Amino acid sequence: MTDGSLSGAARVAGVIGWPVAHSRSPRLHGYWLRTYAVDGAYVPLAVAPGHLPSAVRGLSALGFRGVNVTVPHKEAVLGLLDAVQPSARRIGAVNTIVIGPDGRLEGRNTDGEGFLANLRDGAPGWRPGAGPAVVLGAGGAARAVLVALLDAGVAPIHVLNRTHDRAVALAAAYGPPVVAVPWEARAERLAGAALLVNTTSLGMAGQPALELELGALPGDAVVTDLVYVPLETPLLAAARARGNPVVDGLGMLLHQAVPGFEAWFGVRPAVTPDLRAYVMGTGP
Ligand code: ATR
Repeated sequence: MTDGSLSGAARVAGVIGWPVAHSRSPRLHGYWLRTYAVDGAYVPLAVAPGHLPSAVRGLSALGFRGVNVTVPHKEAVLGLLDAVQPSARRIGAVNTIVIGPDGRLEGRNTDGEGFLANLRDGAPGWRPGAGPAVVLGAGGAARAVLVALLDAGVAPIHVLNRTHDRAVALAAAYGPPVVAVPWEARAERLAGAALLVNTTSLGMAGQPALELELGALPGDAVVTDLVYVPLETPLLAAARARGNPVVDGLGMLLHQAVPGFEAWFGVRPAVTPDLRAYVMGTGP
């Protein structure tokens, strides 16, 4: 580790959001910058929605290497970039911008690959061909998960959402492997599943719990939750109690940050237990 001081040649990146104060990304990237003794900085950038176009334009003028993009800008930023990677287009959102030496802005979405990397880390026995997946929710997080599972070859993928029309829209957008199933059928739909993913906000601190009877879920199905506050959601606790392998959501946050850090700062960082503890605020 270094003392974090910067030279005049320091590389600069950050996160654009509104509000941005709650973001854990500065803490996460700050940890890696110190660990790898990078001459660089990662700063929170509070950008009000009306200022998004001028803020994004200003990034290359200021010499930024790139930024993460978070709520509420992930969709709106799509139209402000010089290039957008195909997976980000399919997800319909950008969470990472990489600025080339020529000042061109490229949009990426690393949420899907972060999801898969976390799943592979936390449940090494899971295979895309293991059987059907059940995905709860139909928001932006669900889209990233769906694209990742589709690209990995998982089929079928049952999508269930309180507002059924949104699940139907996802099935229409992504095609036959994705099947919209009514929210009310969620307990039965678990029969035969190899993977259960919660992408809704249910179970998050301050939100209602996810009401789901797990009785039909096979005992070896992997259960994962994108919620990571608390780390062990009621869903994960219930799944663990009946012996299912479980994967918490913190790893997705950590893994989605890897490609951005590598592109901006030139080092591929590792996701370690110490990093997990640090980002959750329990490490030194
Ligand atoms: P994100 O981009 O994080 O996925 P989002 O687009 O706001 O956020 O999606 C939140 C998801 O949580 C949605 O699937 C939402 O269901 P609706 O589409 O019906 O709104 C789901 N969700 C939030 N509160 C819920 C609740 N009380 N019961 C069931 N689902 C809920």
